[in-house]
Amino acid sequence: MPKKLRIAVIGCGGIAVTHHLPRYEEMADVTVIALADPDPQHLNTAGERFGVARRYANYEEMLAREEIDAVDICTPNHLHTAPVFAAVRAGCHVLCQKPIATTIEDATTMIEAARAAGVVLGIIYMQRFMKCYLTAKHLIDCGTIGRVTFLRARMGHAGGLSASVAPERWRHSFANLAGSFSLLAVHHADLMRWYAGPVKQVAAIGKTLVCSMEGDDNMACLLEFENGAVGVLESCYNERPGSNVVEVYGDLGTLVCQTDGSLRYFATSEVETMLPMGGVGGEGTEWQVLPPDRQPAISDFESYHAHWVHCLRTGRPPVTPGEEGRASLEIVVAAYESSAGGRFVALRHQRW
Ligand SMILES: NC(=O)c1ccc[n+]([C@@H]2O[C@H](COP(=O)([O-])OP(=O)(O)OC[C@H]3O[C@@H](n4cnc5c(N)ncnc54)[C@H](O)[C@@H]3O)[C@@H](O)[C@H]2O)c1
Repeated sequence: MPKKLRIAVIGCGGIAVTHHLPRYEEMADVTVIALADPDPQHLNTAGERFGVARRYANYEEMLAREEIDAVDICTPNHLHTAPVFAAVRAGCHVLCQKPIATTIEDATTMIEAARAAGVVLGIIYMQRFMKCYLTAKHLIDCGTIGRVTFLRARMGHAGGLSASVAPERWRHSFANLAGSFSLLAVHHADLMRWYAGPVKQVAAIGKTLVCSMEGDDNMACLLEFENGAVGVLESCYNERPGSNVVEVYGDLGTLVCQTDGSLRYFATSEVETMLPMGGVGGEGTEWQVLPPDRQPAISDFESYHAHWVHCLRTGRPPVTPGEEGRASLEIVVAAYESSAGGRFVALRHQRW
């Protein structure tokens, strides 16, 4: 691999400009060598802001002309599969935004194509590197709350009320797997699996109550995990001021990852004395709150992108390869199926 990892970005809209390109800009051993987007305004705005001169309207042309090590795909949900195939064919490693695809079948063919080509397919779940969620995972793994029995997660914001869901935009159409559940809850579906393991079955109700879009703006899903735990996963696209909360209940304690990034926890006094975080502690029978600046440094990486680049350099697999992306997509797809049919839906792709 060359000294500087050569990355190309396909899709230069919202998330590429706010989260992907800024992360690469922070890394000395990475260069973004080219961008592709058919929208000239998005392409040129991103190119000028991040100093990328080589710009293409067509990603196939970019892949044919440039020497690229890895491609980062930030296109709309229904436009992930084609560029992933093209990048894999060109021998590039691929990082793709969530959800991996709009169908399980597409996700499976993407995973198989990457495997056959010997390239790495990573699906980006940025919350896996947020301090609060990492600390929660660490405490769960250390046994701080004992056996996980119940999880509740909610993500909501007012994005469904914005112009980005107008009929001509991709977020309007449910065929693009654009709803509050697929756009927001898919993050927590991933975290819940991380905390409690594979999901056995789900049942859900989704509705479009307020927003001018085809997809759901409010949805609630019940989950049964293979280990017997139960969960509730909620999304709302008309929520003010917005929330991002994950609660995990065990037989020895409780963890609440709060919207402001703080971690509230309660652990029995025996467990409290064993907490693997120096200097935290407390009386042992009261709620404790750890603001972000008092949460321990669990990961060596500040961001998913830093982890991804490290994986490419060392040959380590990413924490969320294509199979993890398919597993969280499966929860979303099954929840929609349940909501449409009014029944529980059993899952098949949680283990790989
Ligand atoms: N992780 C997160 O928190 C998060 C947040 C927002 C969006 N996303 C995901 O990121 C993806 C993009 O979302 P967004 O908000 O940036 O959307 P967006 O509409 O702002 O940007 C998408 C860009 O892709 C471009 N595009 C469309 N077809 C293309 C093609 N054939 N080749 C190259 N570019 C093409 C569009 O012109 C646009 O610039 C979606 O899958 C979405 O679910 C993730």
